[in-house]
Amino acid sequence: MQATPASPDAPPVLPADTPIHPGWLRVMHWLNALAVVVMVMSGWRIYNASPLFDFVFPKEITLGGWLGGALQWHFAGMWLLFFNGLLYMAMNLATGRLWRKFFPLSARGMAADLGAALRGRLSHADPRRYNHVQRLAYLFVMADIAVLVLSGLVLWKSVQFDLLRELMGGYEAARRVHFIAMALLTAFVAIHLVMVALVPRSLIAMIRGK
Ligand code: HEM
Repeated sequence: MQATPASPDAPPVLPADTPIHPGWLRVMHWLNALAVVVMVMSGWRIYNASPLFDFVFPKEITLGGWLGGALQWHFAGMWLLFFNGLLYMAMNLATGRLWRKFFPLSARGMAADLGAALRGRLSHADPRRYNHVQRLAYLFVMADIAVLVLSGLVLWKSVQFDLLRELMGGYEAARRVHFIAMALLTAFVAIHLVMVALVPRSLIAMIRGK
């Protein structure tokens, strides 16, 4: 009998013991989560020292105790976020995982998956494949973190990164860009945690690999 050629959208056939998430990805994911928590909480303390808007963050949910302490935490988290993120992108590009896991991405696929999700009918039958909503959310957060790092560089070394500063519309505008990107990151994390709570099996896979 002649073998039917696999459809281009069919999942690749993998050995049964292949983990859902490779070990390097799991380590990087949890290091990234740690870095994000440290950066956001210390960032809120730094913001409180000179608020942009008409509110401050309750000090119980901030990190660092005082401005100097918060800056130390923010810089420590920054190196972890930066190098871990760089390595994550490099590994994803080098292994072709970025294309396999997050593409194709289409408006039609998005609409279909979003509709199914809202009706509680989104299939999680194959944990190796992200649906279109997940693909977009993960690509979005990668881009959002890149914006956070770039605007952070402007706030940190405004004179040295003068071109970047001008591209962002000046120092004050870069502060707003940094704040908005933080708010979007926080929203992503909140939704991400709800989705993980709805499909606890995905958490086991992100810890144990399968
Ligand atoms: C402690 C809180 C967190 C938990 C419990 C968690 C859990 C998970 C789980 C279970 C997955 C797999 C999703 C699936 O298979 O459907 C995942 C993937 C992912 N998470 Fe998180 N996460 C957390 C924090 C974060 C943070 C702070 C970020 C980034 C800001 C993040 C970004 C991502 C990304 C980009 C992926 C896709 C990774 C890939 O496949 O390359 N997560 N997370």
